[in-house]
Amino acid sequence: METQRMMRPLAGRRILLGITGSIAAYKAAVLCRSLTTAGAEVRVVMTPLAKQFITPLTMATLSKNPILVEFFDPENGAWNSHVSLGLWADCYLIAPATANTLAKMAAGIADNLLLTTYLSARCPVVVAPAMDLDMYAHTATQENLHRLLERGVRIVEPEAGELASGLTGKGRMAEPAEIAAYVAALLGEGASSADATAEKEKTLRGKRFVVTAGATIEAIDPVRFISNHSSGKMGYAVAGELAARGAEVVLVSGRTALPTPEGVERRDVLSAAEMYDATLAAYEDADGGVMCAAVADYTPCEVADRKLKKSDDDLTITLRRTKDIAAELGARKAGRLLVGFALETDDEEAHAEAKLVRKNFDFIVLNSLRDAGAGFRGDTNKVTFLDASGREALPLLSKAEVAARIVDRIERFFER
Ligand code: PMT
Repeated sequence: METQRMMRPLAGRRILLGITGSIAAYKAAVLCRSLTTAGAEVRVVMTPLAKQFITPLTMATLSKNPILVEFFDPENGAWNSHVSLGLWADCYLIAPATANTLAKMAAGIADNLLLTTYLSARCPVVVAPAMDLDMYAHTATQENLHRLLERGVRIVEPEAGELASGLTGKGRMAEPAEIAAYVAALLGEGASSADATAEKEKTLRGKRFVVTAGATIEAIDPVRFISNHSSGKMGYAVAGELAARGAEVVLVSGRTALPTPEGVERRDVLSAAEMYDATLAAYEDADGGVMCAAVADYTPCEVADRKLKKSDDDLTITLRRTKDIAAELGARKAGRLLVGFALETDDEEAHAEAKLVRKNFDFIVLNSLRDAGAGFRGDTNKVTFLDASGREALPLLSKAEVAARIVDRIERFFER
């Protein structure tokens, strides 16, 4: 049911599926099938080399459309217009995308129909890289991906695992179901941003929440402080989504330049200690809390009342632990909802699971700084939900869409 709901945005949408010459091309058949089963209309463009890996007959049968490879049909001179293909599509999905094709896309080279169509496409473009681990890790490939990302191309990251070369590492194309879900979420995002101004169903009317967001600031002296990179975007998106669904929301916010979301009561704080006091007070009469802030774990033992003067010696600042806001709420939650976040850089799921238990969260939202487009500052995030019953990994989404998925889960908590 959940999968069907996630795939709904594909119904009636036009997907141009580009296939390049990789062993992973065999997965394009399953991908095409997933897209058409969800109600999408699929047309397929292949590079000449891709035909060596999967037959045009297979793809034509699955997509119910003729396959496009050459600029024109040598039999009758019929022209395959890359311009009209690029205009036709709601999304141009290139899966698998080889290192060669990614490099050509980054350089603007247009020596086949798949590439000329990329240059003409006005719709969102998604690539699912597939290659050997060393090719993927190579600086040239990473720079090309970075350049494409900067130009707005979406990347469904490859997975780590056994590769066709026999080596093991990151480079295996993401599974077709994940790629199809990514495209569905992307196309759904357009609809949900159009919906953002539309009235949402007030499913959380009568419920109160406290949300923490942004970074805390721990003063060293009147001039300097210890902080982190949180912009507040993720927490503000959650607060806005809760309010849009009718909840009363207190947003305890670290310093940020963001506007207060409509219908949200904002309480500004600076330090972890101030955030602790404001959050505990708001949780008193709340039905739930969402802990999205990046709270300092340590604060200087002493704050100088004048600017510290520099000298030629090293400076040692002794830090002490701050109080853990989430753990404190977890200890006193008594049947109320508590959602946490975990920002990790390694051994992600193990660390997040430990926090889930230690802080008594109902579920935890894991984001990793190893995922491009996830975590601090940007407008996107890639998260995995973990709870006592398991895990659910989401593709890269806008923070607004991630917030909507979090609030969907919160709604389900109150339906129980
Ligand atoms: O603000 P953005 O730029 O949009 O970035 C979003 C984000 C990366 C900050 C957000 O998605 C995120 O991951 N927030 C939690 C970051 C974090 O500090 O995680 P943690 O693993 O250190 O903490 C675990 C949980 O305990 C979090 O829910 C945190 O809010 C909470 N905590 C931690 C320490 C503390 N003293 N009090 C807390 O409440």
